[in-house]
Amino acid sequence: MNQKVPLLWIFLQCASALFSSAVGETAVLKGKDSGLDELPTDGKVLDGIKYNMRTSLDLEHEGCYLQTGKKECLEECGFNATAKTIFIIHGWTMSGMFESWMHKLVSAVMQRESDANVVVVDWISMAQQLYPDAVNRTHTSASALHGMINWLKDEQQLPLEKVHLIGYSLGAHVAGYAGTFVKGTIGRITGLDPAGPMFEGAEERKRLSPDDADFVDVLHTYTREALGVSIGIQQPIGDIDIYPNGGDVQPGCALGDVLAIAGNFMEVMKCEHERAVHLFVDSLMNKDHMSFAYQCTGPDRFKKGICLSCRKNRCNNIGYNTRKMRKRRNTKMYLKTRAITPFGGYHYQMKMHVFNRKQADNADPTFHVQLYGAQNDTESIFVDVHDDTIGLNLTNTFLVFTEKDIGDLLKINLSWEGNGESWYSVWKNIKKNFWGWNAKPPKPVLEVRRIRVKAGETQKKFTFCAQDPAKTEISPGDTITLVKCRDGWEVKPRKRLPM
Ligand SMILES: *[C@@H]1O[C@H](CO)[C@@H](O)[C@H](O)[C@H]1NC(C)=O
Ligand SMILES: *[C@@H]1O[C@H](CO)[C@@H](O)[C@H](O)[C@H]1NC(C)=O
Ligand SMILES: *[C@@H]1O[C@H](CO)[C@@H](O)[C@H](O)[C@H]1NC(C)=O
Ligand SMILES: *[C@@H]1O[C@H](CO)[C@@H](O)[C@H](O)[C@H]1NC(C)=O
Ligand SMILES: *[C@@H]1O[C@H](CO)[C@@H](O)[C@H](O)[C@H]1NC(C)=O
Repeated sequence: MNQKVPLLWIFLQCASALFSSAVGETAVLKGKDSGLDELPTDGKVLDGIKYNMRTSLDLEHEGCYLQTGKKECLEECGFNATAKTIFIIHGWTMSGMFESWMHKLVSAVMQRESDANVVVVDWISMAQQLYPDAVNRTHTSASALHGMINWLKDEQQLPLEKVHLIGYSLGAHVAGYAGTFVKGTIGRITGLDPAGPMFEGAEERKRLSPDDADFVDVLHTYTREALGVSIGIQQPIGDIDIYPNGGDVQPGCALGDVLAIAGNFMEVMKCEHERAVHLFVDSLMNKDHMSFAYQCTGPDRFKKGICLSCRKNRCNNIGYNTRKMRKRRNTKMYLKTRAITPFGGYHYQMKMHVFNRKQADNADPTFHVQLYGAQNDTESIFVDVHDDTIGLNLTNTFLVFTEKDIGDLLKINLSWEGNGESWYSVWKNIKKNFWGWNAKPPKPVLEVRRIRVKAGETQKKFTFCAQDPAKTEISPGDTITLVKCRDGWEVKPRKRLPM
């Protein structure tokens, strides 16, 4: 009991600091920003920003509050100035409460980095406003935050390279401003789907940018434009910018999927925007199943399977495990993911030379593949031909994504969907020869002798040849089977094309 009294006293002191506006930089901030007067001044938290250091995995536990200039709070909270310090910054809020992702992220960070100081930057009172006002407040919160970081550095010799700011949505730009104004360079800033409105196209100093920290990595999950704006920023703004699923439609977030669970249109937006956080949590928790992203100039080239190279640092882990790469700026990287955690899957590049045999000049086939591995098999996977037609007498490249680990790939079944087997092929046929629909055009025949495959995750290359050398021709409704016939690809001398 006696021992608890001094602790309680320190706690009260640190807590009372929160309720007073006249402390240290709070006063400075107040002088700088007259807008503060508009805040609800019910006597609480006048500077509107709290630093909640998490001291227990127990979410019910209140944790402990840091206060700029108050050394005793650091001691009370058990702040370890030689350990990593991770600040987690939320975004715009309408509810005025932490959203449920915050707890997931905090507990994942704490489990992964048990020594680290994990601090939740709570600027909810400023973030709970009309969006443009909340944007305006990002400066205020950021100057408080860099004030805190400067103090920790000056007074506690906190090494800045061990500071990592993780900001979601509007919080990513708070992190960016804080990084700009800190004396020195912060180690890392992670932007989780940084907010787009009022930041898209803005100059670098007005948003998160590569200069805000030694390493800036960004996950973009909701960059689809509606009415001229996108919730998540579309342009690359970090050293590395990863666009899972093209940064566009996130699996599991389709209207139907979400409505089935939540029944609310807002949830669809939230699902895609927040996916960045869940991918990051996944990267913290599933260290043994890392997801890779691959550098590519754009989503369309990636969907074609052109970009699955890891040479010269062209691939990287995503989320917390992203490796810092030197002298990179705005490097765009892509991957596909599953709909639920663990989000990682397996990417295969397939190169298939399609010979035009008979009546196939307008063949426009719809292909599916089924993969057989040492451990498991896949379902039939639709081969997405992005140009809408397969090039005849040409090598076509595709991306095939599998959700499960099938082990080493051993066999491929390639099927050409028969006319009318799916709505897709029906539509394709009607579009092509409406009048000829009933005229039974001669059956087209294509030839596929081999498929060259590269597994993105292992970077292994294999060549697959027709299992039955006499069966290389395929028509609508047919399947041909190809088996692994060599490790690696045939090396043909050819001109190196610049990437
Ligand atoms: C922020 O709001 C204040 C007060 O409403 C205003 O004077 C200031 O110009 C705004 N700043 C920005 C960057 O919009
Ligand atoms: C502080 O952090 C360092 C580095 O993570 C660690 O070696 C040390 O044991 C920690 N000290 C305490 C008191 O936990
Ligand atoms: C492909 O090659 C075959 C045989 O060499 C030829 O008959 C056919 O016209 C070519 N098709 C195209 C689209 O070039
Ligand atoms: C193969 O995948 C199915 C699910 O698609 C799973 O139920 C089964 O356990 C897997 N088999 C092996 C050997 O992993
Ligand atoms: C794969 O194709 C072969 C014919 O080439 C067929 O015998 C086999 O049943 C196919 N496998 C599946 C699962 O469709």
